[in-house]
Amino acid sequence: MTNVVAICGSLRKGSFNRQLMNASIGLAPQGMTIKEGPSFAKIPLYNFDDQQATGIPKECDPLHEAIKAADGVLIVSPEYNWSIPAGLKNAIDWLSRYKDVAFKDKPVCIQSAAPGLLGGSRMQYHLRMSLTSVDAILFGKPEVIVNMAASKFADGQLKDQTALDLIKQQLAAFAKFIERVKVR
Ligand SMILES: Cc1cc2nc3c(=O)[nH]c(=O)nc-3n(C[C@H](O)[C@H](O)[C@H](O)COP(=O)(O)O)c2cc1C
Repeated sequence: MTNVVAICGSLRKGSFNRQLMNASIGLAPQGMTIKEGPSFAKIPLYNFDDQQATGIPKECDPLHEAIKAADGVLIVSPEYNWSIPAGLKNAIDWLSRYKDVAFKDKPVCIQSAAPGLLGGSRMQYHLRMSLTSVDAILFGKPEVIVNMAASKFADGQLKDQTALDLIKQQLAAFAKFIERVKVR
């Protein structure tokens, strides 16, 4: 069984991205399990002085451990001001300070949803750059970018058939990608 840990970049209750993540959890192909990982909500803001004084905060450990234990990571996130939401970036910054960086050699797949036309694509590009810096192995295509989100979600669920089909295709390709990365 391939185990994927999912991270949602939004803390908002009615988050489109959380709904997208939940849809993906339900659409995992046979042989893959996707589980939501520990939240980054309580991780303090990164400060090098704090790291030197008291080390990496214990609030980071659950996410670090979950990523280490997983075969792959699915990050589903909104775009804030054309980039990565601060909470998610803050978590990546702390996780990059462990001796055994959890993202190193880890296959990572990205999805985003946004009410606008670009659907969070600029966040995806920036996230790729940050994750390359921590030696993650980024899955390429197909990309899942759910734009015009307000018209594609209803009753807490993703309703758009094109997007649902694309998620299935992406996750099936991600499963194969993880297998290829494993045997390297
Ligand atoms: C601080 C902030 C910045 C935002 N910047 C962008 C942006 O650059 N691009 C974009 O497509 N949407 C932007 N939005 C709108 C979000 O895409 C929208 O609020 C979305 O619903 C957030 O994702 P969520 O529903 O998963 O919480 C921004 C929203 C906030 C709160």
